[in-house]
Amino acid sequence: MKTKTIELEAIGVIKTPWKTPDNMPIQPTGAKGIKGIIEVFPKFSDGLKGVDGFSHIMLIYQLHLVENTKLEVIPFMDNTPKGIFATRSPKRPNKIGVSIVEIEKLEGNKIHILDVDMMNNSPLLDIKPYFEDFDNRTGTKKGWLTNKQDIDKYHFKSDKRFI
Ligand SMILES: C[S@@+](CC[C@H](N)C(=O)[O-])C[C@H]1O[C@@H](n2cnc3c(N)ncnc32)[C@H](O)[C@@H]1O
Repeated sequence: MKTKTIELEAIGVIKTPWKTPDNMPIQPTGAKGIKGIIEVFPKFSDGLKGVDGFSHIMLIYQLHLVENTKLEVIPFMDNTPKGIFATRSPKRPNKIGVSIVEIEKLEGNKIHILDVDMMNNSPLLDIKPYFEDFDNRTGTKKGWLTNKQDIDKYHFKSDKRFI
């Protein structure tokens, strides 16, 4: 089957303190209180109306500095290979990251956010409001992460495995 190339246009850029992919948080839960700023490009700023009524938003962005993709990886938090789609590893074929962050304030076309786990200048593809009635599921199966409840998720940092 022929694969289809899909073109996407960035709607903005995410500014964060993270300049290199190692020794940074691997998820927003490990980045509590770390500040970032989303700069939405002016042509998309009308789309921000009402966004600040939500405390949290879901960011969909490009993991733009990923060079090589892999279908099997040894993920953060484990030592045995897993299929890429069973992980949150950045080495994914379409290099898409998803993070739920907290809104601090909206100022014009800038959204000040907290809990950033993406690198500086990651191109932003979409913003969706986090709505717990839709998004918060309990009692789910946790796959290979089942026995990781004790992991210190608030301090776990990325290492050099994906550089
Ligand atoms: C494990 S991924 C998780 C990202 C997102 N929360 C998700 O679940 O899709 C986060 C790691 O990807 C790497 N990373 C983050 N932003 C990146 C970017 N723009 N380009 C390349 N690697 C990036 C860093 O090593 C970071 O610790």
